[in-house]
Amino acid sequence: MFEPVIEDEDINAVVSVLKSGWLAHGPVVESFEKNFAEYVGVKYAAAVSNGTVALMLSLKALGIGNGDKVLVPDYTFIATATSVLMVGATPIFVDVDYKTFNMDVDDLQKKISETNPKAIIVVHLFGHPADIKTIKDIASDKKIVLIEDAAQAHGAEAWGKKVGSFGDAAIFSFYATKNMTTGEGGIVLSDDRRVIEKVKLLRNHGQTARYIHEELGGNYRMTSIQAALGEAQLKKLDKLNEIRRKNAGLLTAKLSDLKDYVELPYEAPWAKHVYHVYALKLSSNVNRKCVVECMSAKGVETAIHYPLPLHKQPLFQKLGYKECCSNASVLAERELSLPVHPKLVDRDIDFVANAFRQCLKSCI
Ligand SMILES: Cc1ncc(COP(=O)(O)O)c(C=O)c1O
Repeated sequence: MFEPVIEDEDINAVVSVLKSGWLAHGPVVESFEKNFAEYVGVKYAAAVSNGTVALMLSLKALGIGNGDKVLVPDYTFIATATSVLMVGATPIFVDVDYKTFNMDVDDLQKKISETNPKAIIVVHLFGHPADIKTIKDIASDKKIVLIEDAAQAHGAEAWGKKVGSFGDAAIFSFYATKNMTTGEGGIVLSDDRRVIEKVKLLRNHGQTARYIHEELGGNYRMTSIQAALGEAQLKKLDKLNEIRRKNAGLLTAKLSDLKDYVELPYEAPWAKHVYHVYALKLSSNVNRKCVVECMSAKGVETAIHYPLPLHKQPLFQKLGYKECCSNASVLAERELSLPVHPKLVDRDIDFVANAFRQCLKSCI
């Protein structure tokens, strides 16, 4: 399903940091922050230890905390919502659009009027941008803080602009399976210098001068080893995304006659999808478990992103969350991800497509 692309330049970058003796936070991290911010088209950046921390610190830096309500999509990785809990605020789930898996604008408006939220975290799931233009207009109009969770969408674009450049802040994850990686890692971006200064303070024990601590912070720093890998990965991100797009296009072309069994990934006319995940929807007549097992028997790994919508996760059930989001519930039953990562060549994609075709037909 996923495989990081680690080549000589990545290894050399890390080795040179190791040889320099400067392993923890330092100039390489600052250079990575500058280059990543420039790539996305945002002024300021603070690199941190992972994407979950990036979400927590961006919420804190934007003044979200105890008692505040934060709207999040019901269909995403759990960290989008748990980061809200971690800062003492309350996540409220918004249903998603069936076609794109991203936050549904009508349900967003409904939940805004019902709950009076302080912030929205919009996710660009699987590498396809959310309808960020509309959501930004709604957030600005209602004076609600907007955070983009672009953990899965490095290099994705909406209306020709990179995701991560629309909100009051944005976060990315550099976990090992992501379109670019630092092993573990994350970053917060913002055009507001004060937000990034606050994140930098919080990531470093609230320290304002050596051993002088003005705020409750922690150690959420990125190492120079991670940043060196990030610098090398960033240089080839566009190339790797193009391979993902090509692989996804090939798969879509090869499977396009199977409309009675499967709905293939959608790319909106205004969007550039970077296919972190090639997520399709099986029709209700197809047995997903059977397809997963059949593919595995043929040597092809698949994945389910995600088996449950967030409101049905045991954690949120224990917290008393009720049924909320019908599209998210259906998607959780029907989604299946096929591999399109950049290490796959045309022959591999052929193999995946043929295996999937056979498995679909034997799992009706
Ligand atoms: C949508 C989303 N948000 C947040 C995160 C958290 O990032 P990390 O794993 O780096 O903590 C992830 C990671 O998988 C993610 O997919």
